[in-house]
Amino acid sequence: GVKAKIAPSMLSSDFANLASEAERMLQFGADWLHMDIMDLYIISIDINCRLFHSISSALLPFLFAPKKNRHFVPNLTIGAPVIQSLRKHTNAYLDCHLMVTNPLDYIEPLAKAGASGFTFHVEVSQENWQELVQKIKAKGMKPGVALRPGTPIEQVFPLVEAEAPVELVLVMTVEPGFGGQKFMPEMMDKVRVLREKYPSLDIEVDGGLGPTTIDVAASAGANCIVAGSSVFGAPSPQDVISILRKSVEG
Ligand code: DX5
Ligand code: ZN
Repeated sequence: GVKAKIAPSMLSSDFANLASEAERMLQFGADWLHMDIMDLYIISIDINCRLFHSISSALLPFLFAPKKNRHFVPNLTIGAPVIQSLRKHTNAYLDCHLMVTNPLDYIEPLAKAGASGFTFHVEVSQENWQELVQKIKAKGMKPGVALRPGTPIEQVFPLVEAEAPVELVLVMTVEPGFGGQKFMPEMMDKVRVLREKYPSLDIEVDGGLGPTTIDVAASAGANCIVAGSSVFGAPSPQDVISILRKSVEG
């Protein structure tokens, strides 16, 4: 079978102490560190009620601004400078999840900064995914593709079957944008379809994973597990990481 990769989402960590938070997670048994790199646009693509209420009213003028003005800053959370700072403190695998409009712009800066994995969204790369994958590989990073809950799984098949394929598929189990949301079990159909078609593919799940939701994800075939609030919010993050691993590895 495929090996478990437990990836605490640093979005739930104390950003002011990122290096020690990372170190702590590795000591607790984490395999990867999941780094969420976001800008505003992808969050606003198909605004739904839940997200609408989560976004502070101060941001609304930007969300409804013409497209070219939507990037208030290039990154709303973590960007290449933060990855670069963290890289100076750790050799860990930095699993970067790009929730941005133009992933191409970030390949070079993130590679330089020391990113290990580069996972872009299929929704923003329908025209240039081949170029993206080739450039990510050329820079020595592991290429991955992510899909939002509303995106059909068929959209990633060509990327997995390409001559230069993605090496990981990230199935979002919440709407991207924020940690601490509720796991969507209906996304497990996507995971099952992927696992049946591609027995050795790295299949990552992201959003709402923790001790109460891991078994359904693991039995569907997910092996890379992102977990933010369930790990950072636990009295013993170590126990949570070990529960996640046992569920995947059996
Ligand atoms: C959401 C991010 C996730 C998030 C997961 O947009 O992609 O990585 O941090 O957080 P939890 O595990 O709290 O749902
Ligand atoms: Zn993520």
